[in-house]
Amino acid sequence: MFGMARGGVVCAVFTLVVGGLVGAMTSVACAAEAPRGQQVAAANACMGCHAVDRKLVGPSFQQIAAKYKGDAQAPAKLARKVKDGGSGVWGMIPMPAHQSMNDADIRAVVDWVLAGAPSR
Ligand code: HEC
Repeated sequence: MFGMARGGVVCAVFTLVVGGLVGAMTSVACAAEAPRGQQVAAANACMGCHAVDRKLVGPSFQQIAAKYKGDAQAPAKLARKVKDGGSGVWGMIPMPAHQSMNDADIRAVVDWVLAGAPSR
């Protein structure tokens, strides 16, 4: 009887400690979770041609953010560009169309690019 009660107390303390650890780990994981736009970019192979801070095949996302800073038309214009593709703004290499992407994902990734592609 006494032994069981002690066991119960030990277990409760153990659960508290483990619970606290899991809680701490969960909040770290949440803080480290990438922004939605970044997840969309990763899931749609955008990063095969674009990097956040240097030119690859296409301009860096930070270059794009700088170019369209203060341009109220930019979100709509760039959403169309991601969907339909095109060339001539940064050079002769075309940006491919992404017809199968849905508008919410395109908006999320364009907003993220225009915000300078922050990592969180
Ligand atoms: C095959 C390579 C390639 C892939 C894949 C690619 N891009 Fe591009 N992207 C380019 C090139 C090249 C340009 C420059 C086009 C131009 O000069 O008009 C560009 C331009 C852009 C621009 C700027 C457009 C403008 O008119 O200024 C944005 C925004 C962009 N890409 C976003 C994306 C996103 C989001 C994805 C993924 C859904 C993506 N790109 C996938 C090559 C690519």
